[in-house]
Amino acid sequence: MIDCTAGSGRNRENNEAGSPILINEWATASYGTAFRQLCCEQRPNGVKDLSLEPMTNADILCGRYQDVAPQWMESLKLTEPALGFIYCDPNGAQDLVEGLKFFAWAANHPMFECLDFIFHWSFTAYKRNEKRYEWSQHSLREVVDYIATIKRRAFVREPINQWQWVFMHCINTDKVRPAWKSERIVEYSEWKSTYGEKVLS
Ligand SMILES: C[S@@+](CC[C@H](N)C(=O)[O-])C[C@H]1O[C@@H](n2cnc3c(N)ncnc32)[C@H](O)[C@@H]1O
Repeated sequence: MIDCTAGSGRNRENNEAGSPILINEWATASYGTAFRQLCCEQRPNGVKDLSLEPMTNADILCGRYQDVAPQWMESLKLTEPALGFIYCDPNGAQDLVEGLKFFAWAANHPMFECLDFIFHWSFTAYKRNEKRYEWSQHSLREVVDYIATIKRRAFVREPINQWQWVFMHCINTDKVRPAWKSERIVEYSEWKSTYGEKVLS
């Protein structure tokens, strides 16, 4: 499991466990010690706080995930394709879009092609910057269409609040269908016909 943007481990306001801890608790309960976890965080203070959390089989690296994750992944020296997921939850959109080359690399690597991708990012953050910077040269529609094709299938949650936060779950297999009606997560084609005109234009 790879948490690209792990943060400090806890929500500063209520001390609730964040994604690196939740992933570690779930993996330990499910697999004992038969897993490896990577937590990347670019802020040294976040890394310091996260390092104080007791976690099993977790490596914490300080740096941009695009720079530090590939080397860690290669260092595993896998002989069989890894199962699990890569999770990216940046503060807006830029740090996801700037990682698209990394995700394409992982999606096409024989040892990492089976990993699911889970993205939580803000469409509003992208739209506000669309065509203004090097990282935002494409339209939001082009970016989302591209992400939806990195893997064979993509499932997307309805956008939340004025920031239009969405979850995207990209997978390779047709054997599972992680649509989740109560969470309003549907396959991308259905999502696009419901929200596409309003949200992507
Ligand atoms: C929204 S927070 C993550 C929260 C975390 N998922 C949780 O549930 O507690 C985003 C974090 O990603 C870090 N970050 C942003 N871009 C990054 C990058 N390219 N590489 C590594 N960390 C990054 C930020 O410093 C910030 O701490």
